[in-house]
Amino acid sequence: MVFIEKYCLELLDEPETGRQFIANRKTRMPSCYWKAYFFMARRSGVNRIGGLDMKVTISTLNEMKAGGEKITMLTAYDAPTAKIVDSSGVDTILVGDSLGNVMLGFDDTLPVTMEHMIHHTAAVMRGVERAFVLFDMPFMSYQVSVEEAVRNAGRAVKETGCNGVKLEGGGENICRVVRAVVDCGIPVCGHLGLTPQSVNAMGGYKVQGKAFEQAKNILDESLALEAAGAGMVVLECVPWKLAKVITEKLHIPTIGIGAGPHCDGQVLVFHDMMGLLDRKPAKFVEVFAQAGKLMRRGVKSYIKQVKSVDYPGTEHSFVISDSVINKLEGNKKGKKK
Ligand code: KIV
Repeated sequence: MVFIEKYCLELLDEPETGRQFIANRKTRMPSCYWKAYFFMARRSGVNRIGGLDMKVTISTLNEMKAGGEKITMLTAYDAPTAKIVDSSGVDTILVGDSLGNVMLGFDDTLPVTMEHMIHHTAAVMRGVERAFVLFDMPFMSYQVSVEEAVRNAGRAVKETGCNGVKLEGGGENICRVVRAVVDCGIPVCGHLGLTPQSVNAMGGYKVQGKAFEQAKNILDESLALEAAGAGMVVLECVPWKLAKVITEKLHIPTIGIGAGPHCDGQVLVFHDMMGLLDRKPAKFVEVFAQAGKLMRRGVKSYIKQVKSVDYPGTEHSFVISDSVINKLEGNKKGKKK
């Protein structure tokens, strides 16, 4: 293994050799070499080897769980943000229905429609090269019937090019939906614990699964989702020890948000982790960059410079010859008034 690791790291420094390596991998190279090669590349944060993108797939995510490599997921709702998130090396992008709150100004996710989700996910796809992109199925797009859920999941894939869909819950009806959607060849991510589309039934945004019955229900539903064919499960706002038990019992990756450090991966809402929202973040949110403050400073500076006529200067402007201007003003050079 040490030899393979050394060999792979050498290849990472050599794009040309890397290109050859990939070209040959199905013929001359033993498969364990190129698997290790991709694993090492990912671990080193390399997105392109030998000029090729390493697109993250559902199998990549399973390999990451098996290899003990943490999976990163962030939300994105538009092309430029998706480009930043993707090119920074995040493994998975969720076009969350949280776009209702953070982008569209709704109080919760319930008013979000398929049209909103399609519009934003298509934009995200235009900014992404490598990450695995999940389309969050909005409230009432998958609960009415299996047929309607399949039709909507199909629309998500056909009209946006996303790589999979996410839906909330793990009861019998939802598992039937998961099975049917997976049967169509669409990867599905489950979502348990605090499920924001059920905010009215839950009586608010609260930690879920503290008492035995609730904890057992979340564990049972996570196993049922896996049995139904789900490719991963988001665990939101559950006690970390419960998330640890679930993560150990499942073969598919768990992605935590407010679920402690033992999940196979983590997800945060982009606007929360970048300090873009004008409210106190939840306990589980770490603000990784004060982008909101930076943007406000930029806007204030713009206002000040426009008011004081420091911006724009002639260096930001376009030139025209004086003869044209003179002609326009009617005072041709040399003409006596
Ligand atoms: O919509 C969303 O952003 C989500 C995450 C919080 C997991 O579902």
